[in-house]
Formats: sequence, C-alpha cells, structure tokens
Amino acid sequence: MDEIERTLEEFEHEIENADNLEAIKVIRVKYLGKKGKVTALMRHLKDLPKEEKPIFGQKVNKLKNSIEEILEKKHEEIIFKEKESKFEKERLDVTLPGARKTLGHRHLISRVLQEIEDVFLTLGYEIVEGPEIETEYYNFDALNTPEWHPARDLHDTFYISTKDGTLLRSHTSPVQVRTMKKSKPPIKIIAPGKVYRKDYDVTHLPMFHQVEGLVVGKGISVAHLKGTLDYFVRSIFGPGRKTRLVPSFFPFTEPSFEVYVSCGICGGKGCKSCGFTGWLEIMGAGMVDPNVFEEVGYDPEEWTGFAFGMGVERIAMLKYNVDDIRLFPRNDVRFLEQF
Ligand code: PHE
Repeated sequence: MDEIERTLEEFEHEIENADNLEAIKVIRVKYLGKKGKVTALMRHLKDLPKEEKPIFGQKVNKLKNSIEEILEKKHEEIIFKEKESKFEKERLDVTLPGARKTLGHRHLISRVLQEIEDVFLTLGYEIVEGPEIETEYYNFDALNTPEWHPARDLHDTFYISTKDGTLLRSHTSPVQVRTMKKSKPPIKIIAPGKVYRKDYDVTHLPMFHQVEGLVVGKGISVAHLKGTLDYFVRSIFGPGRKTRLVPSFFPFTEPSFEVYVSCGICGGKGCKSCGFTGWLEIMGAGMVDPNVFEEVGYDPEEWTGFAFGMGVERIAMLKYNVDDIRLFPRNDVRFLEQF
C-alpha cells in the first residue's frame, strides 16, 4: 500500500516538471508501460494473501486511472501552451498603420507655375514659349533697350558669344517680340519659362522662372492692366489682398510700374516681412512702348497693349513663406515634402 502511495507521489513530482510532449511520453512508459511501475505493482497482486487482493487491486486500478487522467490533462495543457506560444510568435497587430509607399509629387515651382498658368487660361490667354538661348536683338534691341543699359553688362547677362550676340535670355520679354512678329493683333498670351542672370543670394538665383504676359488690342489701357493684376493677385494669394502700381521704368514699357501686393502677414499694417511698408513687390509691368510696336510692325496709333513679367520663385516664396530662394533648386526632400 505504501508503495502505491509513493508511486503516485513520485509520478506527481515528475509530471509537475514535464514541459513537453516528449517528456510526457517518457513518463507514460515509465509508469504504464509493460515494464512500468504500475504494471509491476499489478503483477505483485498474485503474491498477496487472498483477502488483501481486492483492496490492493482497487488501489492499483485507481492509481492507474489517476495517472492516466493526469497524463491526459498534462498532454492537453502542453498542446494548448505550444499553440499559445506559436500564436504569440505569429501575432500581427492589424491596427498598425501600413508601410505605405511614398509617392513623389511635382516640385513646388512647377505647381505654382501651373497655378499661375491656370489663372490666365481662365481669362482666355494662350500659352506660348520662346528659346532660352536668345540673341541680343530679341533680348535687348527689339525691346528698346539702349546700348548703354546696365542689364546688357557682362556682369549681369550670360553671353554665349559676344561676336554673334547669343546669350541666355535674362527675361521672358523677348517672347513678346517673337509673338508679335509672328502674328497679328489682338494678342493675349503668357510666356512661362526659365531665365538666367548672374546673381546668387537669398532672393536671387542664376536660373529662375518668369511668366511674361502680353495683351495687345484696341483701346487697351492701364485700367485693363490693373484689373487683370487685381484678379491675378486675388486668385493666387486670396480674396483679401490688394494690388498697388508704383511708377517705375523699363525700356520696353511706357508708363512702367512695379506691382505690389498687400502683405499677407500683417494685412498691410507693416511688419518685418514687408520691411514695415505693408507691401511686397511681385512683378514689373507697363503699357507696351510705341517703339516696340514700331519694331514689330504694329501701328502704335492703332494698337495699345500692356505687358507684365513676374518671377515664379518670388511668387512661391511669398505664397508659402519660403525665406531663401536657394532652397528650391537644392532639392532637399525635407524641404520639398512640406508642399
Ligand atoms: N522683363 C522685366 C524684368 O525681367 C519685367 C517686365 C515684363 C516689365 C514686362 C514690364 C513688362 O524685370
């Protein structure tokens, strides 16, 4: 009887420490196998006196049953635990944000250029383009620019050859001349594109973008220019913004203006951004000079027109509060991604 008791205790101790199916198999053989401990106890039965046999037999049977029961339970427990740990290892948090592929997008300058083009397309303008390698004639002469004008200086303009007068255009205004020479009025065009100047600082790049505008017709006046620019400014910067024309000079327009937009940061009261003036300069403009009309063969008594030219980078800087123009061509994604 003691032996039965001890066998159970021993078994319980061993099963307690078993933590895998292989260990359970070993224990099962050790107790219930042909040469197992319980089987040995059973065999012992025949050696006992007759009156002890039933009780002993019952006890060994009970032992066998509980061992089987415990083994079964332990088996299930281990299978359950193994599954658990497998699931744990394979756990997926389906609520985590996915690893999205980032898409590229258009450069801010391309976007702003597109916005500018859209405003004028809405007004019925046509988009035309001209060459970036120009001649002195189209870039200066035909635009009524005197021989002595400082913009012609080697320090300002990239000349390709001073012999044949080829250069990188320093503005988009030569497209005015090319367009007028090619077609008859009325004309309503914008000419976007790259221009080149020997300049490099926080507000100047050696290559930047301009959008030229030219309208020629009968009775075109400064009022048309002002109305067009008001519409443009409100479309690009928002309905609350005002425009101001300040007298200026360009060889190819008369009168000429510098065009200002009311400061978006202080609302026109004056702040650091606008140099405490309440106004920001956004472009040059004016009425086409009669000398330019003569040059392209238009009768200045019959036709009048206005022209304007703006820097795309400058518009983008003002609209998106970018304080260094050199950020645009640097192409640092940390900068570009913000737009
Ligand atoms: N071409 C001038 C510039 O680059 C701008 C301008 C264009 C001025 C058309 C008047 C008319 O500064």
